[in-house]
Amino acid sequence: MSSQIIPYGRQHIDQDDIDAVVKTLTADFLTQGPRVNDFEEKFAEYIGAKYAVAVSNATAGLHIAVMALNLKPSERVITTPITFAASANCVRYAGGEVWFSDIDRDSYTLSLEDTKNLIESKPKGFFKGIIPVDLEAFRESADKHGLWIIEDACHAPGGYFTDSKRNKQYCGNGNYADIGIFSFHPVKHIARGEGGMVTTNSEQLYKKLSSLRMHGITKDNMTENHGGWYYEMQELGYNYRLTDIQSALGITQLAKNSEGVVRRNEIANTYKEAFKGKLKFQSLQDGAYNAHHLFIYCRS
Ligand SMILES: Cc1ncc(COP(=O)(O)O)c(C=O)c1O
Repeated sequence: MSSQIIPYGRQHIDQDDIDAVVKTLTADFLTQGPRVNDFEEKFAEYIGAKYAVAVSNATAGLHIAVMALNLKPSERVITTPITFAASANCVRYAGGEVWFSDIDRDSYTLSLEDTKNLIESKPKGFFKGIIPVDLEAFRESADKHGLWIIEDACHAPGGYFTDSKRNKQYCGNGNYADIGIFSFHPVKHIARGEGGMVTTNSEQLYKKLSSLRMHGITKDNMTENHGGWYYEMQELGYNYRLTDIQSALGITQLAKNSEGVVRRNEIANTYKEAFKGKLKFQSLQDGAYNAHHLFIYCRS
């Protein structure tokens, strides 16, 4: 019997993706051109956020997110132990301390109860931020204790939950988290080679994120102006830019995302049906829609 290894992920590239990339290769800008803005605007509209900042990958996005939220060395941030390394590493990049609270036994996401207990066991101001999943409940708790929220939505473009007012809240739309982060690594929904997006509804955070992505260099609000090529580096930033080539691919891939999420749910339902009673599946709160980057179960 021959054994075949099923790959962890495989990107879905159509002719329109290829055409968009080829067209960009012969256009004026390979980077810092119009396709980046175009992709940012389309992505923000799709998710329902006011602002989107395209970055070279989601890890870079997480890094500038904690910087924009002003995380200082030794300040503490709570996150889930079940995530990819980058969700915690971004805190370490800024010199902060990572505190894990436990996961919920049914949803496998960060437990609200455990996190509340952890926050309340320490004096006010002990923690600075939180990287959770059930946003409405966590927002309430975060506001009570003066914490910010980063939503690591890398697995979730097109996923949503329904809030207590029965409004659909798309992951990363900025209504409950200060900043949302998405990844466009090819194993994810929107394949772009490498790439990420940072979303927010705050104009102040948007400006800070845009500056950090671009070396901290600005041509707005300068202390002096000598015209022409003059610009100022007003803070220490990074080169976390995304190219126009990747953005062109992002635009065509984004147009197919909703369809892809529907297909992922169909496949997940087939597994659930086939393994009913034999495996325990991740629970989903009422009115939520899973974008299914992963299909999670445990042996009951
Ligand atoms: C939850 C989560 N956050 C962040 C990342 C980092 O994404 P990237 O590879 O785009 O830096 C990943 C990647 O797998 C992830 O799964």
